[in-house]
Amino acid sequence: MVARGTGVWYSTIMILKVARLGHPVLRLKAKPVDPDKIRTPGFQTLLRDMVETMREHDGVGIAAPQVHVSLQAAAIQVERNPRYPKAPKIPLVILINPKVRPAGRGKSLDWEGCLSVEGLRGRVPRWKRVEVQAYNAKGEPVSFKAAGFFARVIQHECDHLQGKVFLDRMTDFSTLAHLKEFSRYWT
Ligand code: NI
Repeated sequence: MVARGTGVWYSTIMILKVARLGHPVLRLKAKPVDPDKIRTPGFQTLLRDMVETMREHDGVGIAAPQVHVSLQAAAIQVERNPRYPKAPKIPLVILINPKVRPAGRGKSLDWEGCLSVEGLRGRVPRWKRVEVQAYNAKGEPVSFKAAGFFARVIQHECDHLQGKVFLDRMTDFSTLAHLKEFSRYWT
């Protein structure tokens, strides 16, 4: 939020509350964002607060429904992250109204967690390579290909925009693990 005080402009960063599994907002199909609204201060504030909330919780991605906003927007960023110590770095990416298609037929199985599914990890099959079309934070259309962990995070976040969580994509629940047991037996 940008507020005007005594002649001085200042901005505040909000750490938003994360919706947890069971909250209906996580199961809604999020609405597309009007591209003309992307550059408005209100929407830019939402994006910035989503990014700060993701960083606060050591997430590698966050989708707007996870902060109780049912709009098609997501942020992805991987820096040094205690929740994903082996993950390759990914610079900050904002995806608005993303369309994701598999690029090739290969899938890979790897671990995922979710800020909305606190304390659990499970192995999830995902397309190895994807093609993405979206708007960026400036409201410009972008398209790119992604592979590996980046492709996985994109699929995870874009699933949130369709009302899905990683548990819905698991084909074998025998790997579902609490974090402590995950660290003890699976790493
Ligand atoms: Ni998630």
